[in-house]
Amino acid sequence: MATIRELTVESLAHLQAQGQTRAVVDEGARAILRDWMLHPRQAAPKEATPSGTAMSVEEKLAYLRERAADWKPTRALGTLREKMVFAVGDPHARLMLVGEAPGYDEERLGEPFVGRAGQKLNQVLQAMGLKREDVYISNICKWRPSMGDNQGMANRAPTPQEIAACVKIVLAEIRAIGPQCIVCLGGTAGNGLLGLQGASVGALRGKWHECQGVPVRVTYHPSYLLRNEALSSRRAVWEDMLAAMELLGMPISDKQRRYFTQP
Ligand code: URA
Repeated sequence: MATIRELTVESLAHLQAQGQTRAVVDEGARAILRDWMLHPRQAAPKEATPSGTAMSVEEKLAYLRERAADWKPTRALGTLREKMVFAVGDPHARLMLVGEAPGYDEERLGEPFVGRAGQKLNQVLQAMGLKREDVYISNICKWRPSMGDNQGMANRAPTPQEIAACVKIVLAEIRAIGPQCIVCLGGTAGNGLLGLQGASVGALRGKWHECQGVPVRVTYHPSYLLRNEALSSRRAVWEDMLAAMELLGMPISDKQRRYFTQP
């Protein structure tokens, strides 16, 4: 499992492979690099600052966000748009949601799940007794996939190559936050996080998986629910959410248990 230290080394190695021999680092980064050199076997900076004090989750995420903004493996692809949309929500959340990639609305507003799919997601969270601020919402790909100059409002799913270039950022986010449960929204996120390719949501949902020791549930993407209002689809998503609620020890009323069983 890659630590922030390994991500840094990988990113520098990528620069080197491109023929670059120098990297500009600010004073803070220099202090961290110095600390790594002096204490190679000690905890990576996600656990300790150069001064030895523990790094807060907020600091880890801020550091990660900064690193991600200049993430060479995705830049090298040239198939993702410029603006990064990192994540939103409570860094101390017990529940982390992972979607696909930002779309038009998310890129414009700089926040995941703020368009129509986001409104549907908010409804699901509300049914669980949660608000957006109670969970941590991220995407497997942090940039809106490009469709060329005349893209307009059109969106596309990230390719396996784009996901492979991005996934380490999400894995580092998971380690920083330490959620008790992850729900992947849609097959793209599920395949990406679980290191699979081409598995359908139907095959992945309804059971627990694991990512870096954290239980993972895969369910249908909120936009699938926008296209498919059938009770059975809504129930399928709801059963996955109920499973997450049970795992988290959240209170579940009889009414909640019966949601989407009858019209
Ligand atoms: N769909 C996603 O998967 N993520 C977003 O942030 C928005 C829509």
